[in-house]
Parts: sequence; C-alpha cells; structure tokens
Amino acid sequence: MRGVDPAWLPDEVFRPIGTRRTVIRGSGPLVDTVHGELAAACARYGGAVSREPEAHELLLELDGSLGPDDSEGFTYERGAGRATVTASGARGLLYGFFHVVRLGEEAFLGEPVRETHRPAVGLRMLDHWDNVAVHPVMGQVERGYAGGSLFWEDGRARGDLERVAAYGRLLASCGINAVAVNNVNVHEAEARLLTDRIGEVAELARAFRPYGIRTHLSVTFAAPIVLGGLATADPLDPEVRAWWAAATARVHEAIPDFGGYVVKADSEGQPGPFAYGRTHADGANLLAAALEPYGGTVHWRAFVYDHHQDWRDRTTDRARAAYDHFTPLDGEFAANAVLQVKHGPMDFQVREPVSPLIGAMPGTRLAVELQATQEYTGQQRHVCWLGPMWSEVLRFEPEEGASVGELARGGLVAVSNVGDDPFWTGHPLAQANLYTFGRLAWRPDAEAGGILDEWIGLTFGAEAAEAAAGVRAVMAGSWRTYEKYTAPLGVGFMVQPGHHYGPNVDGYEYSPWGTYHFADRDGVGVDRSVASGTGYAGQYGKRWAEVYETVASCPDELLLFFHHVPYGHVLKSGKTVIQHIYDTHFEGVDEVAEARREWDALAGVVDPVRHARVAELFGEQLRSAREWRDQINSYFFRKSGVPDERGRTIC
Ligand code: GCU
Repeated sequence: MRGVDPAWLPDEVFRPIGTRRTVIRGSGPLVDTVHGELAAACARYGGAVSREPEAHELLLELDGSLGPDDSEGFTYERGAGRATVTASGARGLLYGFFHVVRLGEEAFLGEPVRETHRPAVGLRMLDHWDNVAVHPVMGQVERGYAGGSLFWEDGRARGDLERVAAYGRLLASCGINAVAVNNVNVHEAEARLLTDRIGEVAELARAFRPYGIRTHLSVTFAAPIVLGGLATADPLDPEVRAWWAAATARVHEAIPDFGGYVVKADSEGQPGPFAYGRTHADGANLLAAALEPYGGTVHWRAFVYDHHQDWRDRTTDRARAAYDHFTPLDGEFAANAVLQVKHGPMDFQVREPVSPLIGAMPGTRLAVELQATQEYTGQQRHVCWLGPMWSEVLRFEPEEGASVGELARGGLVAVSNVGDDPFWTGHPLAQANLYTFGRLAWRPDAEAGGILDEWIGLTFGAEAAEAAAGVRAVMAGSWRTYEKYTAPLGVGFMVQPGHHYGPNVDGYEYSPWGTYHFADRDGVGVDRSVASGTGYAGQYGKRWAEVYETVASCPDELLLFFHHVPYGHVLKSGKTVIQHIYDTHFEGVDEVAEARREWDALAGVVDPVRHARVAELFGEQLRSAREWRDQINSYFFRKSGVPDERGRTIC
C-alpha cells in the first residue's frame, strides 16, 4: 500500500528469513499465509521456500499429531545455524513464524535452544470504538486520534480490505487474535450490522481470517425492538430469546468463525436489562445462549455506573459502582459469558488503582480492558508509552499469588488506537502501545522494557542500532512524565469536559459524572476509606483494603484517590503534597523538553518523514504540558496560599 507506514514490519526485518532456504509443511489457509510471507521475503532477498522436504535452514512444520489443532502454541528450536518451528495448530505456526521474524539473525545464529511458547491468555482482543456513520459529537471514531476508521466511512463500509488485511497482519505479528469492529455505543447504523448489514462485517472477517483473527461485533441490547420490531427486549421473554437465536444463526451463516458480541448495557445511556427489572447476568446469559451453539462468547462490559450523579451527594462514589453491581451476580454468568472490566474503577486515567472487581468474582470469567487509544493520556499528540502502566496493572496481585494477568481468564482487551492515518496511530510512537498490548496480552508478566526494545529494533530496522538509545530515552519514562504534569497523586480527571484534552481543574467538579477532587483551601482528594469515606477501600481483599484504608499506609501515587489530605501533609517521599504538586509539574515540563531534544538529535538518523511528524507533535506536547503545569500549579497556589519553597514563578 502506497503511503502507509509499515510500522514494526518494514521489509528489512524479513531479510534474515528472505535470504535463507525454508521448508514449510502442512496445509490450510494460515499455512498459506505463512507461505505467502516467506515467498515475498525470498523474492526480495534471494532465498527460497519449498513445501517439499529438502535441504533448509528454517523448517516450519504444522503437525496435527502433536496436539489439539486449536492450540496457539509452538515449539522453537535452533542450533548449528538452523531453526525449526513446530506447531499442532495453524495459528501456532503463524505465531512461530513471527517469533522467528522478531528474532532476526539471532533466530538462526544464537546459542542452541529448544523452547515452547504459548499465550498465557486465550483471547487477545482489540475493541474499535468506530462508528459506522459519523457521529455529530464523536465523529467517525469515538475517542479516535488517528484519523478516520479503517472499516467505515460516513455510513458505509470503506471497502479497503487491503488495508484491513495489512492491519490484521500487524496484529497477528504481535499476537492479537480478535477484533471488535464497531463502537460499544451502538447507534442506528451500527445496530444494523447485526442484521441486514452483516455482509459488510463478513467482508472484514474475510480480510482478518488469514491472520488468525476472529471478528466480534458490538450490539445493542435493544436490538429486538430496534431491529426486530418487538415490543420488548426483556431477556426472559421467549420471543426475545427466539429473536436473538435467529439473528445469531444468520450471523454464524455469514461468518462461520464469528467470535461473539460485545455489549455495553445500562451504561452511559445504552439500553440494558435494568429496564425490565432483570439483572446483568440475565442480560448476558440471553446473548450467551444465542451464541453457545456456535462457540461464540459474549463480552459483557462492567462499566456500569450512575452518570446522573448530584455532585452535592457525597455518599455516591462512582469508583464503587462496578463492584457493587456485579459481585452479587458471581456464579450466575453462563460459561461463554465474559465480564469485561476496565482495569481501574473509574475510566482509564493516567493513574488509578486496579479495579477491586478483579479477583472478587471467582465464579465468573473476567476479561480486563485497557485503553490503547490515549483518551486521557495525551490523545496521540503526546508521547505516552503505556507499557509500564499496563505491566504494573497486570502484575498486581489482588490476592497473594494471583496476578491480574492470571485472573483475566476471559481475555485481555484494549480499545484500539488505530485509524486510517498513514502512521496507523496518529503519533508514530503510539504504534508502540499497540505492539506492547499484543505482546503483554500474550505474556502479561513480560518485562515491558524488553518489549519496547523489541519494538524499537523492528520499527527502526536498519537504523535501530544508532537510534535505539535515543528512542528509548524519549519513550521509556514518558508515561510517568505525563503523570507528572497532569492530575496529581491519583486524583484523576481535571481535564476539559467533553473532549478530555488539556487541563481544566474544575472541569468535572460540579458535573453529574461522578469525577471529583474536592479541593478546598485546606486540602485535596477523595476520602474513600471505610472509616470516614465512601467505603470503596473496603471492596478490596484484606491485604489491599488495609493498605488503602489509612493515609499512613496508602502509596503516595494513589494518595488523593483514596484520601482527602491537607496540603501540608508529608508524603512518604518526604515532600508535602503541595510541594510535590509544584515539583512534579515543573519536572514534567522539563522532561518533555529533554525528550524533545533527544528526538531532535535523531534527525538524520531515523526516517525523515517519521522524524518530522514526531518533531512537530513535540511542539504541541510541550505547549500543552506547560499549560497543564501552569493551570495546576496556579490553581493549587491560589487555593492553598502556600508558596513554592523554591521560589519559582507561579501566577
Ligand atoms: C469513556 C469514554 C466514552 C466511552 C466510555 C466506554 O467514558 O469517554 O467515550 O464510550 O468510556 O468505555 O464505554
């Protein structure tokens, strides 16, 4: 495709394979995909690929006698300049192939090894919040910062299946195996994808299939009414059940390997089972029953809270909502119903505690949802590599010995950050978030820094050796830098209402959305303790409930999420809260300026188009970071009257 960035798969990374002789054994569409990749690489670099046993340096073998054919694992072995990948399932072969690609020359020349790789998480999914029709407020892609949708344009299917296939290839190469192709907020045009427009979804599924990616669809709970003309969508109504069964049968006919439904119900105005006095388990099980005959899964989102809150009411706490709604239903969800939980209790802020729902529902399959699209983390105008945040979340142990990554039995999901932008993700360096998500979903305990290095090595291809240190310096600490110049100490929000870009300390303070910081002249933060606050801290298991309950034991970075403290309160770091606010905001801006210098120094080293795009975005990031610094610092200086002990200018 002309003009589209190859992201982490530039031709160069196929050179080690493309210069060698490969034998590929096995048959089927995914084997053909791998064969096609090998043939293209060999045509470019002079190697050869054969489907017959003959002399080779790389052997890729699909051997059904080794185990189940739905296995995604593979064995990789090398020694004496040769490498072998063996898999019992075709997807395993595909992932084994990309493993070899990632390793480059080392795949053949490294020390002899024999390793077995398999994903820790079975479902590794991207949810697209893509609208079919352009929404008057949200546009083509809700919270999209990378141009239009890859799938839809102004009410119609785009039909650019070549680009969809290229996307599928990128996703497969980092281990992603599922995509939901439309927004969780289902408007009229999206609703119809389920019925008369299913053919358009089937086209997308056809483009994704050769890369082992199953297609999922967001549906409206009100579909029986909106599409079927029934009087009700009551999950216990026999006609409703029959309608879903028939609709799902037609979906399966059009897309035999259909993955399932994603549902946002009783959430931010979307219809759901509450209207009929039914529970979310009733709602989820209705769709689970319809999907069950075809092996599909319903992903039922737990993002259910009161968004018509009265800010005067201090007893309602949005953070409590998911746990309060769902824990009483543990054990009631069907086996093919997955409860999809945002990683934090609020909404993808730069810093949140892990949702207490994760680990609290042992009888329910949970999927954990992350947000690659940078709604609250710089909207792909700021460099903000989310690997360290996600890694912290996935390694967090709600209970001793069971991490979030292990508890996410129903899958790991990220809201996609991709659009029709030539760099895929708007900010070229935001590609790293997509890649990192895929790799962490495969292995949630992987070292994030290692994944970043891997991404740099692939993306910057031939330039990587020279560029690596600079790119790493720009990206590795960028999430913490972003945290420094935005809302402090876990309190969150403080963004411009609506579009959520840039600072507005009181933007949501008197709003119905339940996102407050309660700053006054004496202090700031939300008391979520059991003793004197909303009781949210008590939703955790004993260990974390105790840690979060008191100011003394609560970690600094989450202090204002859990407690309201005076500005003079001394943090574990030894600084007062107010001085911490001032210092981090000055540091954050300095770090952005330093990152920009690092990037500027890469001029002439990295590809000029990529360099120019990032350099230009740094201008905006620096402007925005200063705006954040000055608004936050001025706000708290004016509230508290406490001067900066270092005497810097605060207006
Ligand atoms: C956030 C976001 C919305 C989105 C919602 C969701 O609130 O701002 O645009 O619809 O999350 O996850 O459903």
